[in-house]
Amino acid sequence: MNIPFLSLTSQNNLVEAEIRAAFERVFQNKWYILGKEVSDFENAYAAFNNVQYCIGVGNGLDALCIALRVLEVGEGDEVIVPSNTFIATWLAVSQVRATIVPVEPDKDTYNLDPRLIEAAITPKTKVIIPVHLYGQACQMDAIIQIAHKHNLFVIEDNAQAQGSTYNNKLTGSFGHINATSFYPIKNLGAYGDAGALTTNDTGLAQKASLLRNYGSEKKYYNEVIGVNSRLDELQAAFLSVKLKYLNGWTTERQTIASAYTRQLNGIDGLILPATASGSSHVYHLYVIRTAKRNELEKHLNNNGIGTGIHYPVPAHLQKAYEHLGYQKGDFPIAEELAETCLSLPLNPGMSNEEIEYVTKTIKKFYA
Ligand SMILES: Cc1ncc(COP(=O)(O)O)c(C=O)c1O
Repeated sequence: MNIPFLSLTSQNNLVEAEIRAAFERVFQNKWYILGKEVSDFENAYAAFNNVQYCIGVGNGLDALCIALRVLEVGEGDEVIVPSNTFIATWLAVSQVRATIVPVEPDKDTYNLDPRLIEAAITPKTKVIIPVHLYGQACQMDAIIQIAHKHNLFVIEDNAQAQGSTYNNKLTGSFGHINATSFYPIKNLGAYGDAGALTTNDTGLAQKASLLRNYGSEKKYYNEVIGVNSRLDELQAAFLSVKLKYLNGWTTERQTIASAYTRQLNGIDGLILPATASGSSHVYHLYVIRTAKRNELEKHLNNNGIGTGIHYPVPAHLQKAYEHLGYQKGDFPIAEELAETCLSLPLNPGMSNEEIEYVTKTIKKFYA
């Protein structure tokens, strides 16, 4: 059997006719930037996410950068980020020239550990960026409480967790302004780069829509120094089609994850995903951990099963961040995750036979 780590086949088959119709509509309308498709999708995604405003932008990294800029975060400000995240969370802080303050995750859920946040707060701290990693919602009550106590902003990085909830409230609706990505393989993915901001704050929403469009509301009149980071009409039209299927795909992801967990339970030396109380998990990734990661990866790959590593090098040990002077050992939990994590194939449309083939192949490795 051959099981790719990522496959969009089943999702594409389901939406193909509607995607072609959406393309045709935009093509014929001859209006390709900031038109009705974008505002329709923004309204639909705001409604989905249960927030007042959605502002479509070019990608998830830009969404994070714009969120930081609307909160006027810059040089001299400190931003708390997880020590284990996709590099974009750190890059956004670097782009606005603020100072990155990494905080370790909980060793079981891999999400920012609220118990460690307060020790990292200084008079310069301005923002906390929780990342709902792999699709599991962070402990948002605790994080919001700390932010409130210290008068800090919260920006959720919701790139991996569209549709996830903490205490039944959707991720992307807790922070002052939040960022998400519609990179093609995300739970809600476009057919190219795309991203968005979500917020309930009218002032922040207005600032974000100005910033994404050269700092201009009225053509050729520029109020602030903005960027060009607009969701385009085609991607918005495609995303509107796919948004209708997101809840169904999430349920499928959760069913596949439950089957993995059921079938892999009890293997000595294999750590399965754990969910924290109140947090839902939409399984953008199903990440297992083992000290024999490299051997297990090779065994699965040799048996036709694709795998991923999210992520092999923690941000503080990346060459790009050499100048921060961190050493191996500075963030041991993030480092251990990098050395032991392995993501299994999890794609809507996966059959029971495929799931069983993956788990049987893992069991054979341990037998
Ligand atoms: C946690 C996280 N933050 C930010 C991003 C950046 O999104 P994009 O690739 O759209 O820039 C991604 C995904 O790529 C991500 O996984």
